[in-house]
Amino acid sequence: MARQLEQRGAQQRKRSLQAVVPLSGREIAVAGQRYLHFSSNDYLGLSQHPQVVRRYAETLSVGARASTLVTGYSDTHANLCTLLAEVLERPRVLLFSSAFAANVGALGTLGPLYGQLYLDRLAHASLLQGARQCGQRWRRFQHNHLATAQGWAAAQESSCLVVSESVFSMDGDALPAGLLKDLLSQTKNTEVMLDDAHGFGVCGRDGRSVAGQFSVAEVGLLSLAFGKACGVAGGAIATDECSADYLINFCPELIYSTAMPPAQAAAIQAAVEVIISAEGQQLRDRLAANVAYFYELCRTAQLPVTLSEHAIQTLQVGADHTALQLSESLRKAGIWCSAIRPPTVAENTARLRITLTAAHELNDIRQLVTALQAGFEEFNL
Ligand SMILES: Cc1ncc(COP(=O)(O)O)c(C=O)c1O
Repeated sequence: MARQLEQRGAQQRKRSLQAVVPLSGREIAVAGQRYLHFSSNDYLGLSQHPQVVRRYAETLSVGARASTLVTGYSDTHANLCTLLAEVLERPRVLLFSSAFAANVGALGTLGPLYGQLYLDRLAHASLLQGARQCGQRWRRFQHNHLATAQGWAAAQESSCLVVSESVFSMDGDALPAGLLKDLLSQTKNTEVMLDDAHGFGVCGRDGRSVAGQFSVAEVGLLSLAFGKACGVAGGAIATDECSADYLINFCPELIYSTAMPPAQAAAIQAAVEVIISAEGQQLRDRLAANVAYFYELCRTAQLPVTLSEHAIQTLQVGADHTALQLSESLRKAGIWCSAIRPPTVAENTARLRITLTAAHELNDIRQLVTALQAGFEEFNL
């Protein structure tokens, strides 16, 4: 077995684990070296927010001690679900140990009830996994071409589920909300699931993102990830009464897994309270200013950054080795920004995925762009 794994490994791209020490919201240490950190999904810097950390530490029970349907669902979980349901204006919210589990569980369980599933080509691996697992017929439409999905649905007698993301994880671009409204108004047999992993907390008024734009009648399945703007971990599905009851009774990821630790649920609740507060708006404003500053510096330096208003910025360089070289050159300049390669992204679209956060200072961003410029010159990009 070991030899088979070795042979298989030799044919694959080499990846390895790196132990990281989180320092401040904007810095990490790796192997004793300090780096400015530009590969974090902690967009608002809440992973180290005193209120979030304190709430985690003050919660009596670190472990849930049972699955949700046994005794793992505590009053702390219930309070979080109530707050989220209120903020998202959804009748019900169900918690999962991760957004990956939430997506696989929701699609795997509810997918078979639809005649067809249509997924955006860039939909996250967890959505793809859920579609595969549900055994129902599924197709992928070209990225953000909702009109294609609309055409396919219009040709169907049976019900269809369109699955997409609010903000795409590897490109940072947004779902065209207007086109989704068109699709919903013109196809009566179509329901929608949106993964709001990178939108919740960051986009829209009070960080409500998709929930601020679409009602539960329009987006019946809304997936959340608490490891991004909330700075914690875990996932949820916000939905209607009927779908929630069905998931509670039939979703294996929910039924046969230990519930999220109560301390984690309490920390998420604290993070959501910050997100909807005036402080949350200040953090979003600061993030937006950092994004604008980064974009302006890149434009002046003629760096081919993809235009995105979101915290996720990409510099596509094509070949895997070029992305790795560029990432390494940044590292030498004291900046940590991971190269993203296939199969996470399509072949020949290797890139640097740069994430800006509210914790970054203008000088950090200047340092990043200077180092990027030097790397582009060094490798003749
Ligand atoms: C769009 C999207 N959905 C779901 C997930 C899974 O989130 P989690 O880390 O909670 O499993 C991710 C994480 O990378 C993501 O980017």
